[in-house]
Amino acid sequence: MNLVPRDAKVVAVVCNQFGDTGKGKVVDYITNYWNPKYVVRPCGADNAGHTMEYGGKKIVTHIIPSGIIHDSVGVKSVVGMGAAVNLITAKKELKALIGAGISMNGLMFSVGAKMILPQHILLDRLRESRSDKIGTTGRGVGPVYSDHVARIGLTLGDLQNKDMFVKKLIKNMEEKFVIFRSFNPALIKKIMFQDVLCDGCFYDEQNIINIDAVIEYYCELLFKYVFKDMIYETEKELKSVVGKEKILLEGAQGILLDIDEGTYPFVTSSSCSPSGLARGAGLREEDVDFVLGVVKAPYMTRVGSGPFPTEIGGVNAISQYENELNTHSIDPKSIKENKNVFLNYKNHIIQAGAIGVVGNEFGATTGRPRRIGWLDLVALKYSMIFSGKNIIITKPDVLSGCEQIPICIGYVYKGKDVFYGNKTIKNGDKIDYMITKQEILENCVPEYVFFPGWYEEISEVKKYKKLPKELKVILEFIKRETGAKIIMISVGPDRDQTIVCWFLFAIVRILKRGSDIFYWIFH
Ligand code: IMP
Repeated sequence: MNLVPRDAKVVAVVCNQFGDTGKGKVVDYITNYWNPKYVVRPCGADNAGHTMEYGGKKIVTHIIPSGIIHDSVGVKSVVGMGAAVNLITAKKELKALIGAGISMNGLMFSVGAKMILPQHILLDRLRESRSDKIGTTGRGVGPVYSDHVARIGLTLGDLQNKDMFVKKLIKNMEEKFVIFRSFNPALIKKIMFQDVLCDGCFYDEQNIINIDAVIEYYCELLFKYVFKDMIYETEKELKSVVGKEKILLEGAQGILLDIDEGTYPFVTSSSCSPSGLARGAGLREEDVDFVLGVVKAPYMTRVGSGPFPTEIGGVNAISQYENELNTHSIDPKSIKENKNVFLNYKNHIIQAGAIGVVGNEFGATTGRPRRIGWLDLVALKYSMIFSGKNIIITKPDVLSGCEQIPICIGYVYKGKDVFYGNKTIKNGDKIDYMITKQEILENCVPEYVFFPGWYEEISEVKKYKKLPKELKVILEFIKRETGAKIIMISVGPDRDQTIVCWFLFAIVRILKRGSDIFYWIFH
């Protein structure tokens, strides 16, 4: 069933939290029913992992847009100029897609897409070896976007001309050697021999990175591999069709990880908000007609370091999960079978771990266990400032069997008095809006409203009215507190495990625009 207004031409799907909310499924669902001509990944890199499940098949993409599985019906998949591309992993991704029988006739990379090179991955991993790490995915994302802003970056278009590529590559490397030499050579060697850096194929004992090996490898990738025919001025093409063809912008990461709007410095290095998506595709923000914000609820997750007020069991509790299981002699395999016991476990570290296991909360890119917290409506209201009111709820099915569900509606600041802008935030102050500054947010203690949970499994439910009443109470509360309109609820990974709240949505639209009634009745 379609969930996009009839007159919308450019639709953006963003995540309203810290990523990993199930955008891949949502994009796949919309692509399947709305039939966009273009699905664009305008930002982020292979730090993301978008999972799609349909008809018993499971496909995970990292940089390639989720629209690729609709290539055979003419959907064009575009990696925009705001994205950063690692050709080494992109090649692996293409091979996997080809292996799965997926065609890629419409796959296009922008000439302006940033190029992630071995020096970026090395630098990212070296920085992450320090104690003040961000918890990045180690894909070179921070360094590649820093180079772009410092105006020494390379784009895919540069690679199309070998001389230009070599000149820019040498300039890009210059200053990095100084930084590399400040790190332990043994650590550098270890990283250079990791799989993501081609098992040492760029390593040089004396010079750290063998520039000739990099030139040869990338030129060969471009000129001998399929990438040769995939680099286009995609922005020009998208601008020329805007308003005429349907374009779906597929966000990566989440608004709370946005370089400007997120919990800086624990953020990614690109913009994950609708305006960032439009820009990364080469469009204007005004070109976006409809935005859908994806919200995992009534629990949420975060990967890597950074403040997470509603985290269950305390800061990064998930890192102690295995120890706790050992201490309590719990067999990890018994968690899923006895989920009703473990979802309600009094030890919150084990409870958080159990939610992660039931929800399969492991990074699609790194495999890291995700940190688990209760739904934070302060954070949701904040991200809705950027994404608007239309939201999609994902993964409520994970909490079937959880007796009590806390939802955060505000914070109390518990820390030293701190100046913030034109005011002082004092110990004990109530805060009902999100301040993304780390030093404040990490001292915010959530205030919860507690809801009774439900016991029924909901993965096969197809209609809103058939959901357990306890869940409907929670959903109505979310709507009331945030002003959100829930457009769709995903109750499982498969495309079919989806409830479209078309009736509620239709009423709102009918009130706004009478003529739409014919569309909703006859579509
Ligand atoms: P980077 O994007 O690899 O530099 O990582 C910066 C921060 O963003 C880290 O906390 C990562 O865990 C987080 N991050 C990056 N990509 C994703 C994603 O796709 N999902 C969730 N978190 C992500």
